[in-house]
Amino acid sequence: MNYGYFDDPNREYVITNPRTPAKWINYIGTLQFGGFVDHTGGAIICKNDPTFNRITKYVQQMPSSDFKGETLYLRIHRAERSDSADEANYKVFSPFYVPTLDAYDKYECHVGLGYTRIISEMYGLRTQVTIFVPTGAAVEVRDIKVTNISDTPIEVDAIPVLEYTHPSALQQFTNADWIPQTMQSKMLKDGEYTVLVQYPFMHRDVRHNIFTSNLPASSFETDRKKFLGDNEYGTWANPLSLQNDELSNTEALRGDNIAALLQHLGTLQPGETKQLITQLSQESNYEAAKKSIEKYRNPKSIEDALDEMKKFWDTYLDVLQVETPDSAFNSTVNIHNPHQCHTTRQWSRYLSYYQLGLGARGIGMRDSSQDLLGTMANNPQDAKEFLKLLLSFQKTNGSALHQFNPLTLEGNEGDSLEREDRPHYYSDDHLWSILGITAYVKETGDTSFLNESIPYYEKDKNGYPLQASSVLDHAKRGLAFTRADIGKHGLPLLGFADWNDTVNLPTGAESLFTANLYGVALREFIALLKFIGQSTNEYETAYKEMQTRLEEHGWDGEWYVRYFDDKGEPLGSNKNKYGQIYLNGQSWAVLSGFASSDRAKRAMQSVYEKLNTKYGIKLSAPGFNGYDRNYGGVTTYPPGAKENGGIFLHPNPWAMMAETILGNGDRAYEYYSQINPAGKNDSIDLYEIEPYVYAQNILGDEHPQFGLGRNSWLSGTASWCYQAGTQWILGIRADYDGLLIDPCIPSKWDGFKATRKYRGVTYHITVTNPSHVCKGVAKVTVNGKQVEENLIRAEKGLSEVNVEVVMGS
Ligand code: GLC
Repeated sequence: MNYGYFDDPNREYVITNPRTPAKWINYIGTLQFGGFVDHTGGAIICKNDPTFNRITKYVQQMPSSDFKGETLYLRIHRAERSDSADEANYKVFSPFYVPTLDAYDKYECHVGLGYTRIISEMYGLRTQVTIFVPTGAAVEVRDIKVTNISDTPIEVDAIPVLEYTHPSALQQFTNADWIPQTMQSKMLKDGEYTVLVQYPFMHRDVRHNIFTSNLPASSFETDRKKFLGDNEYGTWANPLSLQNDELSNTEALRGDNIAALLQHLGTLQPGETKQLITQLSQESNYEAAKKSIEKYRNPKSIEDALDEMKKFWDTYLDVLQVETPDSAFNSTVNIHNPHQCHTTRQWSRYLSYYQLGLGARGIGMRDSSQDLLGTMANNPQDAKEFLKLLLSFQKTNGSALHQFNPLTLEGNEGDSLEREDRPHYYSDDHLWSILGITAYVKETGDTSFLNESIPYYEKDKNGYPLQASSVLDHAKRGLAFTRADIGKHGLPLLGFADWNDTVNLPTGAESLFTANLYGVALREFIALLKFIGQSTNEYETAYKEMQTRLEEHGWDGEWYVRYFDDKGEPLGSNKNKYGQIYLNGQSWAVLSGFASSDRAKRAMQSVYEKLNTKYGIKLSAPGFNGYDRNYGGVTTYPPGAKENGGIFLHPNPWAMMAETILGNGDRAYEYYSQINPAGKNDSIDLYEIEPYVYAQNILGDEHPQFGLGRNSWLSGTASWCYQAGTQWILGIRADYDGLLIDPCIPSKWDGFKATRKYRGVTYHITVTNPSHVCKGVAKVTVNGKQVEENLIRAEKGLSEVNVEVVMGS
């Protein structure tokens, strides 16, 4: 069964049945102002930070049928008024289906790029609500259009409602004494408009949440108790106050604050439409917000803002558009995957339906350094600025903090602090940014970035950084840290964990993943040094040194070991009862180039044989069966879930990349297709979550619910699947001296076309595959002239270049 369809020409996914197996969401705005909106109109909104400055109260764990954050009610005046208390004078319903759950004639939720548009038809009214944050603005706009599609006049009111949280989102749930005594709302009149202002008392003079609309409201409510009625034994499904002619005009002095406006739209004649625009923003006070509010009261500004947003996405997506024989591949690579990459770049792992944005998590070093690789081609300037921020959380010894809060800019060591008996750093965090630095220079050719001075994290007592150095030096210190931080086999110490957060072996354990990541970082760094004409000797030696150790100690016979514990015993070995083989141990040995050709092939074949399933490659097998403090987090999961033998999707694209390096385009594509969410659209009841974005995990075949997906949206899967699909399968990769075209595609493809914008030049690329190979370039023609290599260097002055590549041996 499906719950909707892909509308690629409009770059939307359209949900046609609101009873999806889990809430499906979309993001609006940015971390500076925005959040997500679910497919039934609920929304979580924050400004700059979801932990310390959250605006709407949205409780993910409540049932899907519940009110969450925001909604809209419509009420139809009954033709005949009744004086009987038992008979309602109004038919009240939500055009979003939730929370009133009325039967609908039509329901569509258009999940677009930067906006969600819900269209429904109920009781003779067609409602279209477009929810978005205009580009660069700090306001959530809801553009509501109500049309009478019946053949009789309908008198209708609209009641937009939202519920506030205390800005300290966690305290909202942990303190029911202080919080409710501080929450206050006021009503201001601005001419004919009603403006509802809300704040916790301590913010009264500095920061206000502001809710208003473009039409005069006849009454308002800010007290949830009054809105629901009967001492809150009224419900969101049937708020009793909506049976009164007007709301109570209460300015809440404490308690659970909401904002509700009663807007009489009047009597709509058949075919007539009324437009209501609501706005939620946060500024120091109404005066400060007024200019923006006046702007978006004007329907023309809404049209312009939607146009501007469309242009933003045109520019963003035009950087790479492809046409392959696989429509699910095209839809993912051209629209939804880059959209998800943009989203993960914004939100890291901070705020989603599964990442609650409460507490310390903030922006993750490891995660965000990988996320920005997925936006590098589309917006390198933004990626660079973000990378600079990340580098400022590196420590002077070269290691890095694990995460930081974007508002306070305070870093911390993450979950590693939970165990006193374990190291308080992660062995991989600082190495990922090196991939970002090199990717930026490859994309732009801008080497001046390498000389920019960036502070290290340690501060003096006045909060000033103790040291700063160039970007290049940050990378050098990162590499030096890992080179020195080694264990018994000369392999990098694990720290609290490496990429796999949940394997927390006793202090002294070594990580073969970090060894390989270090190898990748070294290779990248060596190429960069060559490009800028600096000596590479030291780094070549370091590379060989680690390669020798990995090859000497890491091979288990048919695959690579994943860890050595503090006693020097392997994990990820045939010898182990649980966790015999780990995916990343194999793919990364290929990516680093450490694995010899024979071992690389054997290791990846073991992945196929022991870890692959029809829904994706498992992270490891077999899963641990019971909590064991010695291994840590991984054993908290039942076998088949998440890191414990689940299909953890983030590493799947690494296996695709490794297969392309080995020239196996058929397998790389098989791995790509089996996890492409677009391909799951018609069997979604098993998978449950959004078919338009990648998930973080799918339950593996050791779990009875094999195939069930969870933790959609905020996952490194987005960035790496985009890289695997575009740079390794299609093989279009930015390099220091030009654009490399080195496809490794399924042999059945006749070829593909792509347009790539790179350093100001548009490359129109046609790849043909007459002899049906997976890899290999036989002939390259640039603007009609045959050239000797597949690294395309644009001639000066040209803005359009035609590249024809014929594959073959
Ligand atoms: C989560 C974390 C990420 C980690 C992964 C595997 O996705 O955000 O940092 O690498 O889990 O443990």
